Amino acid sequence: MSLSSHDVFNAPDWWRQAVVYQIYPRSFADANGDTIGDLKGITSRVPYLKDLGVDAVWLSPFYPSALADGGYDVDDYRDVDPKIGTLDDFDEMVAALHAAHIKVVVDIVPNHSSDRHEWFKAAVAAGKGSPERDRYIFRDGKGENGELPPSSLRSIFGGDAWHRVTEPDGTPGQWYLHLFAKEQPDFNWDNPEVHADFLKTLRFWSDRGVDGFRVDVAHGLKKNLDPAFDAMIGVDDGIVESGDGQHPLWDRDEVQDVYAEWRAVFNEYDPPRTAVAEAWVRPHRQARYSSPAGLGQTFNFDLLRAEFSAADFHDVVDRNLKAAKEIGGSTTWVFSNHDVVRHATRYGLPGGAVGAGAPGAGSTTGGNDGKQWLLDGGDPSAVDQAKGLRRARAATLFMLALPGSAYLYQGEELGLQEVSQIPDADRQDPAFFRNREVEIGRDGCRVPLPWTREGSSFGFGADGSHLPQPEWFADYAVDVQSDDPASTLNLYRRALALRHELECEEALEWTQVSPTVLAFARPDGWSAVTNFGTEPVALPEGEVLLASGPLGDGRLPGETTAWLRR
Ligand code: NOJ
Ligand code: CA
Repeated sequence: MSLSSHDVFNAPDWWRQAVVYQIYPRSFADANGDTIGDLKGITSRVPYLKDLGVDAVWLSPFYPSALADGGYDVDDYRDVDPKIGTLDDFDEMVAALHAAHIKVVVDIVPNHSSDRHEWFKAAVAAGKGSPERDRYIFRDGKGENGELPPSSLRSIFGGDAWHRVTEPDGTPGQWYLHLFAKEQPDFNWDNPEVHADFLKTLRFWSDRGVDGFRVDVAHGLKKNLDPAFDAMIGVDDGIVESGDGQHPLWDRDEVQDVYAEWRAVFNEYDPPRTAVAEAWVRPHRQARYSSPAGLGQTFNFDLLRAEFSAADFHDVVDRNLKAAKEIGGSTTWVFSNHDVVRHATRYGLPGGAVGAGAPGAGSTTGGNDGKQWLLDGGDPSAVDQAKGLRRARAATLFMLALPGSAYLYQGEELGLQEVSQIPDADRQDPAFFRNREVEIGRDGCRVPLPWTREGSSFGFGADGSHLPQPEWFADYAVDVQSDDPASTLNLYRRALALRHELECEEALEWTQVSPTVLAFARPDGWSAVTNFGTEPVALPEGEVLLASGPLGDGRLPGETTAWLRR
């Protein structure tokens, strides 16, 4: 397969090597000045996205929602939140993105709805044993009067995973399961109506021109809550160490039956709609989600969790390319998203290690993922920001040279650091409210973007921003960086433009693997070399196309990546 700047958009397999830019809609651009980013704001920034050179955007949820979990608590899967736009605005946005040859991926949240979804309201109103209740997971409580939760299960965001409802007659009643916030009741995926309704939703957005779906908590959905299995559930084992298909909650084998149904719907369209699974599963289980008979692609969080080290990066890349080849899929790469501390900050934290864990799951690696630092007050002076940014730029250029698709998170192209100090009164993340002894939440990577050095909310909107922006955002603004050839924004622009120009097969050959240096060649004479150490090393032969930092007299400085053509 060959991709070039001309045919990515029209190729049926556009997704295999796409650069996908994640937009967190409420924090991207605010067109009507109500402090909340909106769909018209996105439309107004399509020229920016085109200049940046991304192949697709992925929109985090924009559905009607009380925002108990940043929109991952969906009231209605087939509408737009009136706070951020209308279906007409959506159509206009898709048309503008498509006109700019940018594909559109939307987030789909099948594990749970919000407690304001009409089905959930009906379930509470209809009472015990009703068909309405069967669409969710209701159980009687334990104890003499059912006053104790049905099991000891804990929510990912802290506290019990069960919440008791008041029955229609006003008495305390049954309990429902919510693996995330209590406003996010889990669906019962043994109920055929749940299956049918999601197929309807997939068609609804596909008919409106959506090109693909990002599937939230794709390894959830199917559960076995038989009491005998309760004992298998440890406190923090939920997301990553999810067993081999038999865990009561995560990554059960039969969840793939759901995705086989979805695949049939995707294939009704020309080109087939695509999907990428958010599945925090062990590496050897990822292939199930990325099989062409299933969702087709999985987020691969291995680079995000790896330390900035040649050995770790080499191991991760090798393992994932091999796995992708075995199933005929393409792999994905990601360093930042709306759930983790921004990678320019993680890489500058003391301790050197940067592994970031699953959202809400605490630190799941030995690495310093920034959660503890945030909890301890997030002192910015504890971070070596220059080093963090230098490593982030090197890591990103390494990633963008790899086969497979790369997922970027809004603001990383500006080299943004995490906003670590947000007053408690301004925080929004449920993880902060439910679990504050353990984590401070994810608001620090969700602060609205700075577009201009001057002006209200740095150009985000006309009247402030829903999360406070720090003063130092001015230095990172798009207009400041646009004219600076050495800026991170221009590094991303040049990298994405070159990636398109260097029309290339999905192949990689290692040319140097040492304790501090990794180099690999792609077809057509394109190669990348990264110095993970701190001392300069010799540059391989070739014309330097791009480098993540200044090159000193023909040598490659520490923590720097260069792209070359032989
Ligand atoms: C994963 C999403 O990325 C995260 O933001 C959300 O809180 C959980 N899923 C629950 O939907
Ligand atoms: Ca707005």
